[in-house]
Amino acid sequence: MSKPVILTGLRANNDLHLGNYLGAIRSVVALQKHHAGEYQVNMFVPDLHSFTTPIDHGKLYQQTLENIKLFVAAGLDVDDPNTFVYRQSAIPAHSEMTWILSCFTYYGELRRMTQFKEKAKQHKVEGESVLDNTDTPEATEDLAQHMTAGLFIYPVLMAADILLYDTKYVPVGEDQSQHVELARDVAVRMNNKFGKLFDLPEVYGTYNHTSEGKDPVRLRIRDLVNPEKKMSKSDASGKGVIFLTESPASAAKKIMSATTDSDNKIVYDMEKKPGISNLIQIAASLRGVSTEGVCREYKDQKQYGPFKQAVADEVEKFLTLFQEKLAAVDEKALLQKLGTGEAAMNKTANAKLLLVQKAVGLRP
Ligand code: TYM
Repeated sequence: MSKPVILTGLRANNDLHLGNYLGAIRSVVALQKHHAGEYQVNMFVPDLHSFTTPIDHGKLYQQTLENIKLFVAAGLDVDDPNTFVYRQSAIPAHSEMTWILSCFTYYGELRRMTQFKEKAKQHKVEGESVLDNTDTPEATEDLAQHMTAGLFIYPVLMAADILLYDTKYVPVGEDQSQHVELARDVAVRMNNKFGKLFDLPEVYGTYNHTSEGKDPVRLRIRDLVNPEKKMSKSDASGKGVIFLTESPASAAKKIMSATTDSDNKIVYDMEKKPGISNLIQIAASLRGVSTEGVCREYKDQKQYGPFKQAVADEVEKFLTLFQEKLAAVDEKALLQKLGTGEAAMNKTANAKLLLVQKAVGLRP
């Protein structure tokens, strides 16, 4: 019997950051460690996804390899026989499956995806007006003027990434959950029309129960300068972002100067106190405890300074260790793993593609 598949991908549009690590990578590593042998783990770089927003194309190839090294530094055991690392573009079935799925995905569904609106806003053409309220049809139309077709259909490529491998669990942060749900909807639609083609994927929240007594959370680490928005690789300034490869001392400084309120109470309330709540979330996630636990520990503190210092120390310690592991990654061995992973996944993906080609009448 084949094992249930856990799959996740991280775009190589820039170095990965703490949000990527806490929101996605860590869950995969923890599942692999605590349930050794129970699952198949697919961890890949969606390199075709990496230029749905503008990038330096001269760096993409190397950035892709660098990001795979980060998976290993984060603890992914690539020697595990049930683990596969690969690049999306090395498996052409992803692209053909995208086309087929796109013919069973509605324009209206894609318009409802919040990510493309946020990204289109971020990368709007200079001087063009963008309405703030993107919920109206006029605002969506306005955004459409400076958005590539690739950015718009990107969730279909993501659905192909997931459905080609009969994925069961998809560990992603909160921002990508809507896309996993779309993949599921498209899978249900095609299964209803053609008979069972795909297993149905589910979002997998972060491994640690960061909030007591509740389900695993869909994590959204915020930008340190503007905690109203998520920490993002595509942020132009990078001032509020902690990159996994940046100097631990500089990351600690960013934590110390993170935007907070003037209330001086260490209370978790993402709506009213996003800055301090974000730091509580980061501390809780790095320590593997609940946000409630962190608040209890600091409940008598009347100032943010010592708490910020503790989080800064925690981040500094984490990055120092992480980067030691990164320096020790055997690049040559990893390239070999990539080769074997891509060969194996081409076989799996081609078999699923053939099933779907037959179902839609492309093959006898
Ligand atoms: P990407 O590359 O933007 O982000 C990679 C992963 O990191 C998570 N993440 C966050 N989690 C918590 N807080 C944050 N601030 C934060 N920022 C990012 C994302 O939710 C994601 O899990 N389309 C995807 C990549 C992709 C993919 C897939 C993922 C392509 N195909 C198939 C899973 C399955 C993306 O752009 O993620």
